[in-house]
Amino acid sequence: MQNNYVHGYTELETTRLNDQASTLSSILHHDSIFPEGSKVLEVGCGVGSQTEILCRKNPGIHLTSVDISAESLELARKRCDDSGLFNVEFKQADIFHLPYEKNSFDHIFICFVLEHLSDPQKALMELKTILKQGGTVTAIEGDHGSAFYFPRSKYAQMTIDCLVELQAKKGGDALIGRRLYPLFQKTGFSGTRVSPRFIYADTSLPEMVDGFTKKTFIAMVEGIREEAISHQLIDQETWEKGISELKETALETGTFCYTFFKALGYKL
Ligand SMILES: C[S@@+](CC[C@H](N)C(=O)[O-])C[C@H]1O[C@@H](n2cnc3c(N)ncnc32)[C@H](O)[C@@H]1O
Repeated sequence: MQNNYVHGYTELETTRLNDQASTLSSILHHDSIFPEGSKVLEVGCGVGSQTEILCRKNPGIHLTSVDISAESLELARKRCDDSGLFNVEFKQADIFHLPYEKNSFDHIFICFVLEHLSDPQKALMELKTILKQGGTVTAIEGDHGSAFYFPRSKYAQMTIDCLVELQAKKGGDALIGRRLYPLFQKTGFSGTRVSPRFIYADTSLPEMVDGFTKKTFIAMVEGIREEAISHQLIDQETWEKGISELKETALETGTFCYTFFKALGYKL
């Protein structure tokens, strides 16, 4: 899975994950609150961008954050140590082989991970097994089909479609946001609610243009340039034109919209 991970483990991707988390923090996490004293598992914590937010918002929980990548975990651990956040422990683990007993956690949190898995349903079943009765699973995912922008551009759209196609080739689903509800239902969670988190950016909101349009979305698409061209999903000239037109959405004359989906389900 690690080699298949579409965004890779580069320094640029670490920066992008951090920019994404801090720009979207209030939109995605205003309700990421867990009861004091609860045992919470974060799966696929990466470099700790969401971990830091969870720890700060929930100083009274016992958080365990796992990831398949030892390098990312090291960065996450250092980040929390440097920030003086000590209510979290880190462990290397694969979501499909989690080293925990049945009914181990009160709550489970997973963000931007299911989209990269070839069998997200199986992953959710694994999470349900180690969740206590009455506990919740929270999943946050994007959906690249939700991106719309001005000026419209068929070339910009082709670059976004390359990311969707490349992720599908690697077994993932960049359009998973719209599937969260059915996935939760099939897993057997009760009381599932999905809330769309809408992102809108124009230059009257410079922090959204910079943090989301440029540093999260366009950076993510630009990150697959080499692979998209080498897999012959697009030729170089079309790619450059598409990225240049995608960047116009961040100018005074442009706008950008995107929707994230946050699902919450109970094990009853
Ligand atoms: C897009 S990153 C998201 C990181 C973090 N949740 C965030 O929002 O910034 C996806 C993470 O999932 C991890 N991952 C992928 N497959 C995994 C698996 N089978 N088990 C555990 N983690 C996995 C990757 O190593 C990567 O760190």
